[in-house]
Amino acid sequence: MEAFQTKGHEIGRPTNRVEGELKVTGRAQYAAEYPAPDLLYGVIVSATVAAGRITNLEVAEASAVAGVVRIFTHENRGKAAWLDRKWRDEVAPPGHPFRPLHSDRILFDGQPIALVVADSFEAARDAASLVRAHYEIEPHCTELEARRSEAYDPPEKRSGIPPPPAPRGEAQRAFDDGPHRLSSEYRISAEHHNPMELFGTTCVFEGPGKLTIYEKTQGSQNSQGFVTSVFGLKSKNVRVINHYVGGAFGSGLRPQQQLFFAVMASLELKRSVRVTLTRSQMFYIGYRPDTYHAIALAADETGRLTSIMHDAVAATSHYEDYQEAVVNWSGMMYHCDNVKLSYNLVKLNTATPCDMRAPGAAVGVNALECAIDELSHQINVDPVEFRTVNFASMDENTGKMFTSKALLSCYREGAAAIGWGRRSATPRSRKDGHELIGLGMATGMWDAFLMKAAAQAKLTADGLLEVSTAASDIGTGTWTILAQIGADNLGLPLDSVTAKIGDSSLPTSPVEGGSWTAASNGSAVMAACEALKKTLFKHAKAMTNSPLAQAELSDAVFVDGRVALKDDLARSLSLKEVMQAAELSEIVEKGKAAPNLLQMRKYISYTHSAVFAEVRVDEDLGVVRIPKIVCAAAAGRIINPKTARSQILGGVVMGIGMALHEESMTDHRLGKIMNHSLAEYHVPVHADIADIKVIFVDETDEKVSPLGVKGLGEIGIVGTAAAVANAIFNATGRRVRDFPITLDKLIVEY
Ligand code: MOS
Repeated sequence: MEAFQTKGHEIGRPTNRVEGELKVTGRAQYAAEYPAPDLLYGVIVSATVAAGRITNLEVAEASAVAGVVRIFTHENRGKAAWLDRKWRDEVAPPGHPFRPLHSDRILFDGQPIALVVADSFEAARDAASLVRAHYEIEPHCTELEARRSEAYDPPEKRSGIPPPPAPRGEAQRAFDDGPHRLSSEYRISAEHHNPMELFGTTCVFEGPGKLTIYEKTQGSQNSQGFVTSVFGLKSKNVRVINHYVGGAFGSGLRPQQQLFFAVMASLELKRSVRVTLTRSQMFYIGYRPDTYHAIALAADETGRLTSIMHDAVAATSHYEDYQEAVVNWSGMMYHCDNVKLSYNLVKLNTATPCDMRAPGAAVGVNALECAIDELSHQINVDPVEFRTVNFASMDENTGKMFTSKALLSCYREGAAAIGWGRRSATPRSRKDGHELIGLGMATGMWDAFLMKAAAQAKLTADGLLEVSTAASDIGTGTWTILAQIGADNLGLPLDSVTAKIGDSSLPTSPVEGGSWTAASNGSAVMAACEALKKTLFKHAKAMTNSPLAQAELSDAVFVDGRVALKDDLARSLSLKEVMQAAELSEIVEKGKAAPNLLQMRKYISYTHSAVFAEVRVDEDLGVVRIPKIVCAAAAGRIINPKTARSQILGGVVMGIGMALHEESMTDHRLGKIMNHSLAEYHVPVHADIADIKVIFVDETDEKVSPLGVKGLGEIGIVGTAAAVANAIFNATGRRVRDFPITLDKLIVEY
């Protein structure tokens, strides 16, 4: 059979995004772009003080604006649940969830205090500017440092976030006895997510209690659950759609203000309502909290770590105890017998922080990896050598084995790619014109989760496959990889396969977060396809004169749209023939993925990486340029090298932002974020980015997930800022421990 080629290997192929054309031609619709008949527009009015009470809200002038339909305030808000537990969502931290317009209380600057609804966006915005609020102002604090003495250990732990492990060994004594010691403090500024797409909801009123909600979210079912719980609606009457999501980085994990407002107004007015946040308002829906890290390390003469202590303090709001795994990494990244870690919170008059790309690790590992660099420099051991010597072959926090850890390959391949051999161990010893040149590196680590997820696979008589699950694609490539997985499993070309995601009515999925979607939803799709193959094979076997009559499923392969015998590919049937013979218009099967609890008693899974950076620092101006960054990641099986690489590129760019640019600046006297715009909140732009090389080292992991996939959404940011900071030290001899490393910190003598 000449034309019968064994291709169908979609997994591992660098494939363009299947939805790419829709996106670049503007046909992909985002939440605030869906039309609805008689649509109303809501604009949120934000508080301008950080603490206190609203004494009076003047709305007369605003109400008089032509086109205004209703102004909602705490005095006339629509019906909504009262109890905290009704406001919880899948990823909520412990505490009292924020309930917009619940009372006259102001908890943070920028808090929504009214919603103006009008028949045009312009009228709503105009009227919103005319709402006058009067406050009884109370003292506030937005400054983490000022409240550090009040830091507390959160009494209730956030589900899914492991608290710091119990101390092991005698860290303090080992530190005191250490021949080489380092004790440093690092500060990492608060950051805001700033995805391209503004948060928006188009709530289509389909009749009493029945809504179709186009929503910017990382979890359609999380938003659906929130809406039904807060407004007492039936699940079957609320459908949330998020086909395309213009980035989110964690800010779309929890249902945000616009969802509440659009739904509340829609139910009260019995009309369709759209609410979008402004760029400035997006600075009040959560952020990466600022953190302080006190790190103390000791090592012996050979560079072996004898003590690790890491105490972190992070910001949270007055109403929720937001938590991340910040310090845990310091207990597992390297082998060390004496470890003591702590993580405490400080309440500030801000919105509750929220997960931002590699929450916890991005800051905790950053601080640790700077400290490791400082210590290795002190002992005069090469930073790569130091890390290799201290390699941890198991997770010493839990005593579990890693399902895989090809970190040493990351060090090796990353070092080769950056040309680590060119590095001079002496800071400030390489110069080109008036630019100082340096090389630095760091280790990265992030969880490789497998979450519960479900999927459906449907094969139709025309030989087309549709795989579906309520996953979201926040730019990560989920649309594409799920289609690839389906195609690969049934041996179909990619253009015969469609993925369906971004809809709460599809099979159960967690939020798109934690880098778990490829592994979890991908494995569920694979399971659904396996079930489908089984059914299909049964029909193939049953056909009259079937060439597969004597065969078992395990003897068969699915390639090129056919099911064939492994040992004799000529004995085959096309999937279409089988469907026709069985007189089936379609076969529908379901599949599931879930963590293997038995295995989890012994094993734990992480993605590992090594980041290498080369910097050039202008000696006179302090301007830092990064001509090259290499990120070598060990992430198990790579489904789509193209979208996978894009994930690392994005993570590395955000790491550069953390290193050099990103910083949410608050005027603590006013308790106000001052740079709430893209003009003043700096994210790296093209001019800040040069060569980013992504390496996926070989790693086979049959335990981590049925697909062998680890996930890549977050690992790219972890360690990147430290690699840059360490390179800056190597270039300049200046150790900056306060992130971002803006040029003033490099030219001013402290
Ligand atoms: Mo991620 S911070 O779990 O979207």
